[in-house]
Amino acid sequence: MAVTFKTETIKEFETIAARYPVRRAALLPALWLAQKEFGWISTDAMVAVADLVGCSPMQVMEVAEFYTMYQKQKPGKYHLQVCQTISCLLSGSEEIKKVIEKKLNLKPGETTPDGKFSYQPVECLAGCHKAPCMQVNDDYHENLTAESMEKLIEELRKK
Ligand code: FES
Repeated sequence: MAVTFKTETIKEFETIAARYPVRRAALLPALWLAQKEFGWISTDAMVAVADLVGCSPMQVMEVAEFYTMYQKQKPGKYHLQVCQTISCLLSGSEEIKKVIEKKLNLKPGETTPDGKFSYQPVECLAGCHKAPCMQVNDDYHENLTAESMEKLIEELRKK
């Protein structure tokens, strides 16, 4: 189903695009706007971004597929992105992943049947100084332990 940007979003994009020498260079912020507005980057969202930016949907797809921060599948209400890069790995991210996989019965890339949680290991979230860390939607959770991870899941389940 085709999707269209709200007028306010188009205005926001025009302000952003004015900072770039060519409109196409604003493709990454356009994808952020699409993710914010539509919740994820579907094929239809890619077409809308292509129209907005002035390039082909294939060019949008090439960029969107490269970056893990753009969701190419509809995420759960709470999208758990666990960093698995070196600082977090050395500080216990494997333990955090095990808690998620066991407690929510999820494998990487999966969503719970009720649509509440989705889970994806990702590369460095730039929170290395407080490893291990994880992003839940737009919020960071740092210095995680197996216990704090279990507690967080329980808190999110109640919301
Ligand atoms: S290594 Fe995990 S946030 Fe950088």
